[in-house]
Amino acid sequence: MKPATEELIRRLGGLMPQTALVLGSGLGSLVESVVMPVRVPYRDLPGFPEGGVSGHAGEVVAGSIAGMPVLILSGRVHYYEKGDPAAMRLPLEVLRALGIKQVILTNAAGSLQEDMPPGSVMMISDHINWSGMNPLIGEPSDKRFVGMTSAYDHDLRTRFRTIAGQTDVKLHEGVYMWFSGPSFETPAEIRAARQLGADAVGMSTVPEVILCRFLGLDCIAFSVVTNYGAGMSVQGVGGGELSHAETKEMAPRGGEMLGRLIAAFFEKQAART
Ligand code: HPA
Repeated sequence: MKPATEELIRRLGGLMPQTALVLGSGLGSLVESVVMPVRVPYRDLPGFPEGGVSGHAGEVVAGSIAGMPVLILSGRVHYYEKGDPAAMRLPLEVLRALGIKQVILTNAAGSLQEDMPPGSVMMISDHINWSGMNPLIGEPSDKRFVGMTSAYDHDLRTRFRTIAGQTDVKLHEGVYMWFSGPSFETPAEIRAARQLGADAVGMSTVPEVILCRFLGLDCIAFSVVTNYGAGMSVQGVGGGELSHAETKEMAPRGGEMLGRLIAAFFEKQAART
């Protein structure tokens, strides 16, 4: 067993969550809905990457939401930090070893749709990875040939669609295109992404979805829209230029709505068991 798995089992004291949440930039407040939280900094977990992005805490928070046990990875590392698309592999392997079955990923993203303004929440239905990067490059086994036809779990998406209808939250759905970052896209790249069929762009999540599928974890992912894609608007904190400050400022707005959806998901999950 990996030392990080052993340490987490010890610190969780019998808590056995089956659902994990991965929080993106500026979405850290979702941990506030966790009851009786146990907090374990990534630095206490051997092999867990320590991200250096402001707005990312870097800790595991475990507890319960609506009576259901949950484990949160508050803070992730991105490809652009060290150039490693598999940076989240060890944490996801540890989650699987702990008995996690489903992973809810969240991120901040730029919108490519005029009718999906900043503050919106988009459930990811599919993705485009034209980055040339893949976290499974170098994986020696034939398991690396992972099918991605239904990467974003159909059943989970149906459940969230129903919840959105019942909670009066407008839930967009669309295709997320991964760009490596850390520089934002150019207006030409945004026009190209729109032509390719993307509805949102961002710098995370796709490697983790590929890793989840590789590890046999069900997953679903949500984008909180913090801005329109480059060149689509002249508004914004930086007077038309995109910035991480804008991402951090805007993420909590959609994050609040996403938090309500996730809380309702746990309430329903509790009713099912
Ligand atoms: N592009 C890439 N990543 C992002 C954006 C964006 O416009 N907004 C928030 N994260």
